[in-house]
Amino acid sequence: MPTATRLAELRGLLPVAKTIAYADPQAVYRQLRAEWGEVAPVELEPGINGWLVMGHEELSFIVRNERLFAKSSVHWREYAEGLLKPDSPLMPFMFPRPNAWMTDGEEHRRVRAPLDEAVNGLRLRQVSRQVTEVCDALIGEFAAKGEADLLSQYALMIPTVVIGRMLGLDLETALEMHQAQMAMFAINENSHAAAARFEEILFSLVMARKAAPADDMTSVIVHHANMASDEERMQAMVVLISAAAQGTMSWIAQVLALMLTDARFSGRMRGGRLGTDDALDEVLWRDPPTANLPARFALRDTVLAGQAIEKGDALILGFTAANADPRVHGDDQWGELGNRSHLAFSAGPHMCPAHVPARLIVRTAVDAALHQLPGLRLTVPAEELPRLESPWTRSPATLPVTFTARVRHRAVQPSN
Ligand code: HEM
Repeated sequence: MPTATRLAELRGLLPVAKTIAYADPQAVYRQLRAEWGEVAPVELEPGINGWLVMGHEELSFIVRNERLFAKSSVHWREYAEGLLKPDSPLMPFMFPRPNAWMTDGEEHRRVRAPLDEAVNGLRLRQVSRQVTEVCDALIGEFAAKGEADLLSQYALMIPTVVIGRMLGLDLETALEMHQAQMAMFAINENSHAAAARFEEILFSLVMARKAAPADDMTSVIVHHANMASDEERMQAMVVLISAAAQGTMSWIAQVLALMLTDARFSGRMRGGRLGTDDALDEVLWRDPPTANLPARFALRDTVLAGQAIEKGDALILGFTAANADPRVHGDDQWGELGNRSHLAFSAGPHMCPAHVPARLIVRTAVDAALHQLPGLRLTVPAEELPRLESPWTRSPATLPVTFTARVRHRAVQPSN
């Protein structure tokens, strides 16, 4: 493998000045493309190299061809050789797990089928009611204050709480599950207790639905013939919750930032021609939530876009770069309205099973904020919003806003 470019350059690392400098990672992709073509060598961490796949055609080929490129990291040479330290930042994304996210072939189809059935069985009208209920409750917490951080108080909370409702939790327990999940990842003295509570909430739900099925995703998963144990049922639910979290949060945040700052969309609130769905599509094309995804692993030596890929090499799926591949765009950007051939949800056997409900969640959340918070505006220009320090996810780190505070109605005192 030739000298690697540091993937950290795409990361927007601290300090903040550098974060802003990488607000436009497309410049880095253009440079890599000019130097290497559609597949570039990158350094994932010191001494650990991989390939960044930036071509739309090449990326589509990889994700659709599981006989050549596996999802499970048991096929990753550096992992098999024990070169990754247990505390490597790559481990949470890339260590092998026995669930749909990390398996291949027949085994993947077996554990994926219950997820597909659970998601495809959702009634969208009910989902819409659940999302509205969650958004109303969250907005109710800050509507009277006239200011909020729509990232931490809104976009971050919606995915887990909504999935909790779709799994069959009541609103209060879904909120508690979100808090437990956040505390679990905070890695401090409360993390163990939080992880135990998170598991307890899901396990009680599995047990309750085993005894008496209801109209929710947990009941489909629990009673699916492919599920061999309660451990597998829990894994399936955790995959749904964790796969939904980052992408949905960032999609909501990116769309809100776009609609509040881009005249084409902010004008729509005053009767313009573009709608919320156009803003949703624009984000998926130009700045998708999953910017780069680790990974696929080559199952044999092959050549891709002129690069010699060796068996065991890691390939990072560069969704943002692939969506901007000049070969899939014409000159007329308006001619692309409604075009959804982007790769924001990937493709092939691992393609996101939830792109339809995810769109409904995001559209409902964005519209609820725009309608219920009059005079909504960002307190800083979009290009100055600090970004999450991640090479994988594109999202603002905060969304500070002001709006006209909702007047609290006082209870009428009976007169004497
Ligand atoms: C309701 C919200 C969501 C749920 C429940 C959900 C669920 C899932 C699940 C279970 C998988 C694993 C599928 C597999 O490996 O077989 C997955 C994969 C994925 N999802 Fe989603 N997701 C949601 C929202 C999103 C959003 C908003 C995005 C980004 C726009 C997204 C992008 C992806 C991508 C890129 C993959 C990886 C596919 C691959 O490995 O090739 N998802 N999702």
